[in-house]
Amino acid sequence: MSDQAMLAKEFPQSLDEIRVDFPDAPPHVPKDRIVDLSVAMGGVPNDLVDPYEPFEWLNGPEIPRLLFNPPARGGLGAAAGAAPKGNWVVTHYEDIDRVYTDNDHFSNKGTAEFQQLIGETFRSIPLAIDPPEHGKYRMFLMPYFSPARITRDLEPRIREVVVEMIEQVADKGEVDMAWDFARVYPVRIFMGLMGFPDEKFDDFLEWEWNILHSGSLEKMQWALSNVLNFLRGFIAEKEKNPDEFLTSSIVNGTIEGKPLTEDEKIGMVWFLWLGGLDTVAATISQMYRRMALQPEIQTMIREHPEWINGAVEEFLRTQPILSSGRRATKDFEWHGVQIKKGDGFSCLNPAGNFDPARFANPREFDPTRKGNRHFTFVGGVHTCLGAHLARRELRLLLEEWFKRIPEFRIKPGTDTTVFPGLLSIRNLHLEWDVK
Ligand code: HEM
Repeated sequence: MSDQAMLAKEFPQSLDEIRVDFPDAPPHVPKDRIVDLSVAMGGVPNDLVDPYEPFEWLNGPEIPRLLFNPPARGGLGAAAGAAPKGNWVVTHYEDIDRVYTDNDHFSNKGTAEFQQLIGETFRSIPLAIDPPEHGKYRMFLMPYFSPARITRDLEPRIREVVVEMIEQVADKGEVDMAWDFARVYPVRIFMGLMGFPDEKFDDFLEWEWNILHSGSLEKMQWALSNVLNFLRGFIAEKEKNPDEFLTSSIVNGTIEGKPLTEDEKIGMVWFLWLGGLDTVAATISQMYRRMALQPEIQTMIREHPEWINGAVEEFLRTQPILSSGRRATKDFEWHGVQIKKGDGFSCLNPAGNFDPARFANPREFDPTRKGNRHFTFVGGVHTCLGAHLARRELRLLLEEWFKRIPEFRIKPGTDTTVFPGLLSIRNLHLEWDVK
């Protein structure tokens, strides 16, 4: 375990332990709601089998329905939609559901707009667009991500890639699942979907890492300039020489009978680039870490391949890599608290996905669970557009893996510390016996 990792007992277990003084809090925020929740937002690694467990108490009946978290130090979050004055944190299923679905009171404007850090003014489409405008972009993109389209156009390629990658490691008896597999497999699929050239693979991963995980303004700006220069050049090339891939369909398409503006083209291609790269990778790494540490899950899937879809849903529910933000569109009262227009909200998916008021035995991994409506892909109009693709990639991986690889375990000496969030895990050495 790395030095900075925390043990379960070191995590705070009550609001009293995390109450903080924040003199700059907006005057309408009650003092007793101000708590430091940074540890629950996925940025602090731990080494537990269930790395999300330390925050479970935040959805308890005695916890006030709205908490307030002061701003993260460093200030880079502002460009990604975080409120510079701190934000409300929502921890109960029912309330998170409202934030995601009540577009009258909650807005997505400004979310994930890292491009503002280099002075760009285009919007991230469709994520940062509110209804009703959002609908036309969503309708335009949706057919490319529908289950039927994935089955017809992508599944054969996904299966081919995943089988090839598993067969490359099967006889070796070991793999770095995070670095050599999870990081690579979904990106290969995504590059193929968009029509991006294979030789950009390493650049893409480097740029993306710098944007999302470096925490350095300079590195973020460097990576943003690179990616946007590349994407603009690529768009221009596809306008001249269209092909059958998604970038070309976007830039040569029409919305409501009109060609897309330059801002719409870059806004869409950019956000797909950002959303499609390391989300599935983080999920796979966490999924394999969990199976290696809890081999009974492997046995369950091996004995019941018909449960693979349900197992994928449980991996998603129990390991939500993102907690999404929104902003209040107006003044209103909620749970006895005054909310002001512009207030930021963070929905703590790792609390909502385990809310006992919504999920029976929430910490249990149950692939037969019914009505598993978790928030890992959020909910409402912004429900992840790539969700069907992500699920298909995860299902095919498990299907093909369990046909070829016997029970696997963590290779001795491996650091299994994990960020319970998008940062996930950088290296995960697994091993198994080769016959
Ligand atoms: C396990 C993998 C994934 C997870 C956990 C995930 C998670 C999310 C979440 C939480 C949101 C909503 C954010 C918000 O509303 O604040 C979202 C939106 C989105 N995701 Fe994903 N994502 C995944 C994979 C993908 C992939 C593979 C793609 C594309 C190839 C993708 C494209 C998008 C797009 C375009 C949106 C915006 C949808 C809209 O605003 O209408 N995602 N995703």
